[in-house]
Amino acid sequence: MQGVVNFSMKPRAEISELYDREKEVKQIQGVIGRGDWLSILGPRMVGKTSLARAILDSYERKGWNVLYVDLGEAKTAKDLFSMLYMQMPKGFIERAEDIASRFNIEISRVKIGYTPGSKTMKAIDYVLNNLPRKKIIIVLDEFQTVASGINELKGTFHKLMMEGKNLVFIFTGSAIGLMKTLQEPKGDEPLAGRPPAEVVLEPWSESLAKEYLRAGLKGCGVPFTDEEIDDVTARLGTLTGWLNYYGRGREDGRSHEASLRKAEADAKTVAKTELGKAIAGSAWRKKALKMMGIESHFNEMLTETNVSPTSLTKFLDRMERMYMIEKNGRNYSIADKMYRSAIREM
Ligand SMILES: Nc1ncnc2c1ncn2[C@@H]1O[C@H](COP(=O)(O)OP(=O)(O)OP(=O)(O)O)[C@@H](O)[C@H]1O
Ligand SMILES: [Mg+2]
Repeated sequence: MQGVVNFSMKPRAEISELYDREKEVKQIQGVIGRGDWLSILGPRMVGKTSLARAILDSYERKGWNVLYVDLGEAKTAKDLFSMLYMQMPKGFIERAEDIASRFNIEISRVKIGYTPGSKTMKAIDYVLNNLPRKKIIIVLDEFQTVASGINELKGTFHKLMMEGKNLVFIFTGSAIGLMKTLQEPKGDEPLAGRPPAEVVLEPWSESLAKEYLRAGLKGCGVPFTDEEIDDVTARLGTLTGWLNYYGRGREDGRSHEASLRKAEADAKTVAKTELGKAIAGSAWRKKALKMMGIESHFNEMLTETNVSPTSLTKFLDRMERMYMIEKNGRNYSIADKMYRSAIREM
């Protein structure tokens, strides 16, 4: 299957570096061709950033203006403005400085001075409304981190979206909720009329994951056995990021067992961070997640956690929207193997 296989730990930057994402690439090209916006969603480490960056690269080659903004560290609207500014290509910078001065925002390449919220919002609004009116794609990666802070910008996004084909936003992140923020049909006409298309990335099937490992190991000249390949997917699951951890270990000269152990440890570290955020210091949430480390019925969790059905439902919905858990009738379980191992150790 297409795509150069190498076990890079960084997000991919070109379509030729993507393994097995032709279906999604085609789908996205279709959406952009219609001038619609989209969101790329899926669990952590599945390849959202890679796909978004590769798409940007392909459009940049066709002469589009592209802008990639990583909002992973953003907490507030001020951060959003600051990051939009910092990622701007050269031509935009004078414009940004001009904008900042109009709104009395102190701005430099490394820091942005304090400004009250509404002023920052006005500045963002201004930046967005003054983008060049030629083909431009803007990726807002990890958009969910600021989604709650952008209520005041819904009107701006709405207006930009209705304007037509020359500006496309791609929102990516691990939570479907982020799109809801933009689509909610309350307030001032958000994107209810033309909700962004959703592209959901799923972890690979077991056979595809194995194919990927074989191709990659062959590519870097590392000998392997079928048992080893089976062992990797049996223990790590099929999430692209985890497979790369393992492959990189082999490429660096580690044995099968040592690579696998290190990949498991590294994956569990990521998983524990995410689970910790989901638990947010609450004993009952932790209990529920532990129960879903195997599989648990709603009623069982209700009895054990002793919270109201509404609270439990809300929590489970949120976990499902973040692709952390899967629902099967009234039974719930943590989706990824590494997350299941991690929760057992928490
Ligand atoms: N299609 C692909 N083919 C091969 N490797 C991939 C592919 N997609 C992603 N990867 C690799 O998987 C890892 C995770 O990718 P990426 O950072 O794009 O995922 P993500 O979903 O954005 O993760 P996060 O939720 O942590 O932001 C990286 O090492 C990347 O190189
Ligand atoms: Mg990412």
